Amino acid sequence: MDGFEFLVVGGGIAGLSAAIRLAGRGRVLVVTKDALAESNTAYAQGGIAVAMGGDEDVSLHLSDTVAAGDGLVNRQAAKMLVEQGPKRVDELLAWGTGFDRGAAGELLRTREGAHSLSRILHANGDATGREIARSLLKHARGIPVITLMEDTTTVELTVEEGRVVGALLLGADGKLFSVRVRAVLLASGGAGQVYSDTTNPAVATGDGIAMAYRAGAELEDMEFYQFHPTAFAKEGAPRFLMSEALRGEGAWLVNAAGERFMSRYHPQLELAPRDVVARAITREGLAGPVYLDMRHVEIDLAARFPGISAFLAKYGLKLNRDLIPVRPAAHYLMGGIKTDLHGRTSVPGLFAAGEAACTGVHGANRLASNSLLEGLVFGASAAETMAEEQGAGTQDKGVGKTAPPVPVDPAALEVWIAKLRKLMWEDAGLLRDGDGLRRAQGRLDGMIRGCPRGVTRREVEARNLLTVASVMVESALGREESRGAHYRSDFTGHWPVAKHSVMAKGRLRFQ
Ligand code: SIN
Repeated sequence: MDGFEFLVVGGGIAGLSAAIRLAGRGRVLVVTKDALAESNTAYAQGGIAVAMGGDEDVSLHLSDTVAAGDGLVNRQAAKMLVEQGPKRVDELLAWGTGFDRGAAGELLRTREGAHSLSRILHANGDATGREIARSLLKHARGIPVITLMEDTTTVELTVEEGRVVGALLLGADGKLFSVRVRAVLLASGGAGQVYSDTTNPAVATGDGIAMAYRAGAELEDMEFYQFHPTAFAKEGAPRFLMSEALRGEGAWLVNAAGERFMSRYHPQLELAPRDVVARAITREGLAGPVYLDMRHVEIDLAARFPGISAFLAKYGLKLNRDLIPVRPAAHYLMGGIKTDLHGRTSVPGLFAAGEAACTGVHGANRLASNSLLEGLVFGASAAETMAEEQGAGTQDKGVGKTAPPVPVDPAALEVWIAKLRKLMWEDAGLLRDGDGLRRAQGRLDGMIRGCPRGVTRREVEARNLLTVASVMVESALGREESRGAHYRSDFTGHWPVAKHSVMAKGRLRFQ
């Protein structure tokens, strides 16, 4: 195999948009541990928020993003997101992304929580992420210097003299090999699998974040985990996302008594910021099930939301006929690998973008549908900076070792992982306090002994989940205030000055 200059870990929107940009500057290897199409991006339903309506729209998008983030948004990052967004979305359109259009060919836009106007583009109704992933992948496949390698797990980053120079990988054939490159981009997505209840696919195990941390990189704001208010809530069913776009199209939230309750929590009612809605549903849920009610909405809901309708049909439910049971589930990590606006981490040679990264663009609570745009804008920006990295990239001929046999019983490993996810949900979830967080910390510490050390994909994931969970809990314990998605029932007020948490090499600081 020829040498590569750049390694991109992750095949979602951030990884692919970076790879496409890097292609003019060298040979790019994109690795994904599962099938290429299996990323968080592909599961995004509601859409991509973008201000295509001129200067006023851009400035409102900025103020909505800043307001949702509850005092912690990095304004420069948010400005870059909203200003560069339209240009990047124009590129997507040029690459063949088929957003939904009206009769006259105009782009259709919907609205979601805490947006001051309708600016969310969508595709195939409620399958926006899948359409974006499809078009990016098609475009990337047409570029000869991009090599896409699926079923390839990144085991660890290679660090020499304080610089990331490549990675150790586990190939689809079960053999370990290493790659040396000029720069590595971690675009490996989030960590929803750290919780037992999540809208995220199985691949979201925080791999890039954990590897970056072990390589010495700083992680930022890891206590800010966003719980989507409305995941499907039926015993035994997956926590399938009931897109916020349902509320954008008029869905009400009603409690077990049939009361539309959001007026007691926020003037924007069902379209209040996501953290507010999620906590309101949790509180109302103490008295019985909470439902989405669209029986009064007159549009053709099966046509507007084909994916959600098909899912609900499996349970005998219809959006325009039935109450849909919902409750919050883990959805998006606002924190991540600390980067500047150009994807640089605190470790030379290592870059990050998308959900794995933290530019501070979301602050303490991400504005709905800003995440696809984040991947697009900051993936491209990281690529431009990576292209300037010095150093010769060479492909090692491959260590060629077969991974050692699985040293632990796979069933026992699944029990260990399930235990971790359950304790995180119970003690470090949507409503937190010091006692619960300390309990979670103790239980996570106790799990270190059973932590697998092998290099099968599942063992690597288990290790990464433990690393990420431990940093999340440590950061949440340190933040003795409530802000955005981080709600401490023992510290309900705001600190007078908003601070970011930074965790590196086992030390937590606030700045
Ligand atoms: C949704 O469709 O509700 C998800 C959108 C997002 O998480 O931004």
